[in-house]
Order: sequence, then C-alpha cells, then structure tokens
Amino acid sequence: MPRLCVIEGDGIGKEVIPAAVQVLQRAVPGLELTQAAAGWETFQQCGLSVPAETLVAVRAAGAALFGAVSSPSRKVAGYRSAILTLRQELDLYANLRPVRSLPVVSPRAGLDLLIVRENTEGMYAGRERREGDTAIAERVITRRASYRIGYKAVELALAAGRRRLTVVHKANVLPVTDGLFRDSVLEAARDLDAAGHGLTVDELLVDTAANQLVSQPEKFEVIVTTNLFGDILSDEAAYWCGGMGLAPSLNWGTGAAIAEPVHGSAPDIAGQGIANPVASILSAALLARYIWNLPQAADQMEAAVHGALRAGLASGALKTSQITWAILERV
Ligand code: NAI
Ligand code: MG
Repeated sequence: MPRLCVIEGDGIGKEVIPAAVQVLQRAVPGLELTQAAAGWETFQQCGLSVPAETLVAVRAAGAALFGAVSSPSRKVAGYRSAILTLRQELDLYANLRPVRSLPVVSPRAGLDLLIVRENTEGMYAGRERREGDTAIAERVITRRASYRIGYKAVELALAAGRRRLTVVHKANVLPVTDGLFRDSVLEAARDLDAAGHGLTVDELLVDTAANQLVSQPEKFEVIVTTNLFGDILSDEAAYWCGGMGLAPSLNWGTGAAIAEPVHGSAPDIAGQGIANPVASILSAALLARYIWNLPQAADQMEAAVHGALRAGLASGALKTSQITWAILERV
C-alpha cells in the first residue's frame, strides 16, 4: 500500500492540504498516512524549520505532501527555508512543474508543457556571505547534478512521447557554469539516444525563453534548466494554468518525493477558508502518477478537478470546503 507523510506547514497549507488528502484517500483507498511538522511556526516552537523526526518520517513514507511555509525575507539567525532544507537533505534533485491548460480558468486552451528544474544547487546552493559592504552568492553547478537532471528530463520526455526538449541556460554570459550545465544535459541526451527516439534536444537563452513563454508558450514541450531560472520560469508559466492557486509541482529524488503546490503560505488570505485547494490536489495526483505508479488514480483526480472547474465549482469566490466537495463528488 502507498504511504504518505503529510506536512501542512504554515498559513493556507493548513487549509489546502487536508482538502487534498481527502481527495487522495478517495482515489487511493487504503493509503497509509503519517503527519510531520515543518516551517516557520515549527521553527518558532523548536528552533528548527525541519526537525530531525520530519526527515525520518518522510524517508520512512517515501512520499510526502507539503503545503507551504512562510519564510522571512530578512536573515533570521538559525533559520533556513524548510522546503529548501527538505530538498537538499533528501536530495530531491528534480522539480517537476507541469503546465497544462485547465477548463474555464486557463487563459489559453491546449497547452501542455513540463518544466524540469534542477533542485539542489545553482543559485540556491546556500553559499551567501558578506564581505564588508559586498554581498556574495556563489552559484554552484556540478557535472553530476546537471547530468542527472538532464537524464531525468530526457527519460520523462521519452516516456510521455514528447518530441522537443529545450535546455534553458545563460551560457553566453556564464560560459563556465552554464556551459557545463548545457554540455552535461546534452551528454545525457546522447547516452539515452534521444535523437534515435525522435526527441529533438535544442537550447535557448533564459531571457529569450522567458519572452517566448509569454508570446508562444505552445512551442514548448519539455524545458530543463537550473534552479533559479527554473523557479522563475515555472512561476511565469504557471500563469497559463490560470493562476498560482492552480499550479502543482513534484520534488523527486532517489529515496523520496515531496509533492507541493507552487504557491506559498498566502498570509493575506490564511485563516479565511477561501484558499483554492486545486494546486494541492493536482500535486497529490503527481504522486499517484509518478511515485506510486497509479496512473488511473491520477487521471481520476485530474478529471474530477476538470469536471468541477467546468461546472464553475472550483474557482472564483468559492470556499475551500465547497471546492473540495465539488471535486470529491467527482472522484
Ligand atoms: P503566495 O503564493 O503565498 O501568494 C501570492 C498571491 O497568490 C497572494 O495574493 C495569495 O493570496 C494568492 N494565492 C496563493 N495561493 C493561493 C490559493 N491556493 N488560493 C487562492 N489564492 C492564492 O506568495 P507570497 O505572497 O510571495 O509569499 C507568502 C509567503 O509564502 C512568504 O513567506 C514566502 O516565503 C512563502 N512561500 C513559500 C513557498 C513554499 O513553501 N514552497 C513558495 C512561495 C512562497
Ligand atoms: Mg517559486
């Protein structure tokens, strides 16, 4: 039986994650649940944003559903973002962000693109320091991490029958770091014989990619890129889903996976019961599809979301509970 560690986190995480768990339990009967804590509140209680027992619980379950956490945007002694800590501690090296048009809410129909973001290094390697009046962040790119994210992206593209994979980088300005990233991805594509399987691998500079994601999003099928670029481009592309309350993601490593909505803890609406649970439900569906190998359960959950959206029952000024019921009823 599949096992799931539930980490609600802060703010609207406490509202949308229970909703997603309800839907998941209906689509995956017998799912074994555990709970664990992480985030800003947890840090205030015990001095750590991710307690050791949370890491143990996620490793034991192999899969987690994570809401969102609040992070202060000033340095707080001893605090490190919970989700960044989880990604690095559990080596969740791939961040999958599917961008698919949804009925009614999406500004354009027919889009189906997957962004595969390197999740452990690059600009988020955590190497930031002050030297007097100069602040320095080191952007770390390794052959190992670049090759394995390239390998994962090619595997996913081939498994889904995609025809185009675009490596996004900035090797014209950063030839050493992004040159290594690009070359390592291309090496993985050769090793998997992407061309022989009908997958064209091309490349694009990140600024051009940002522009084309707005002007011609339908041209993209799969994008693979570094951590910071992937963070920004995937939020940009999430616009095509219909907004931040609707975009799902999956952090995937060798020993564990954590699904999470792309959005944050939304302090502006937390506690009001009006957060949209769709992003969390679609994130839970990614666990069913990719981690538990239950594509029918994933299809069921996605179809239920689409049905509720078509009926006008999963967006706009509705309450979290109303949207959840509309989706539950359709699973
Ligand atoms: P946010 O995603 O929390 O909110 C941005 C806007 O989208 C807000 O107006 C919010 O009300 C709306 N929104 C977000 N999710 C929604 C939902 N499910 N339904 C309806 N509306 C929704 O981003 P923001 O405001 O930049 O960050 C707030 C906090 O969240 C910060 O402390 C930040 O560090 C944290 N954060 C955490 C993330 C994570 O845990 N992975 C990701 C992004 C931000
Ligand atoms: Mg982001």
